[in-house]
Amino acid sequence: MFEQYEDAVQAALEVQTNAYAPYSEFKVGAALVDCSGNIHVGCNVENASYGLTICAERTAFSTAVSQGIKQFNGLVIVSSGGVAPCGACRQFAVEFCDELPIVLFNSDEMKIVTESNLNELMPMTFRL
Ligand code: THU
Repeated sequence: MFEQYEDAVQAALEVQTNAYAPYSEFKVGAALVDCSGNIHVGCNVENASYGLTICAERTAFSTAVSQGIKQFNGLVIVSSGGVAPCGACRQFAVEFCDELPIVLFNSDEMKIVTESNLNELMPMTFRL
């Protein structure tokens, strides 16, 4: 398990409560631990024009990159059931990481569902 994953779980649970998900009612929180141990969070933000919705993971990456941070040690994603990240978010993560440990956390049962990593979730990636 990566360093500070417990703090990241807490941060992801906290930001999950801020998710704006009036259409799906499926709230997701994401917390990225950077190489200095700082945590960058994101939640999903939906839109009446459904395709404009942004996932929690991409929000977290965008928050971190906006602060000049592009190297990460781990990602925690919390949701009901502890779902895996969508394909768009996997591709988004690949832009910045090769070996990113990823923890999927079930916020209903307050337990880890899966410990994985980006290589496993996203083999044979597209890169320019
Ligand atoms: N969602 C995420 O935030 N992350 C994912 O990896 C999958 C889906 C959000 C998008 C939408 O607001 C809701 O979950 C239902 O699809």
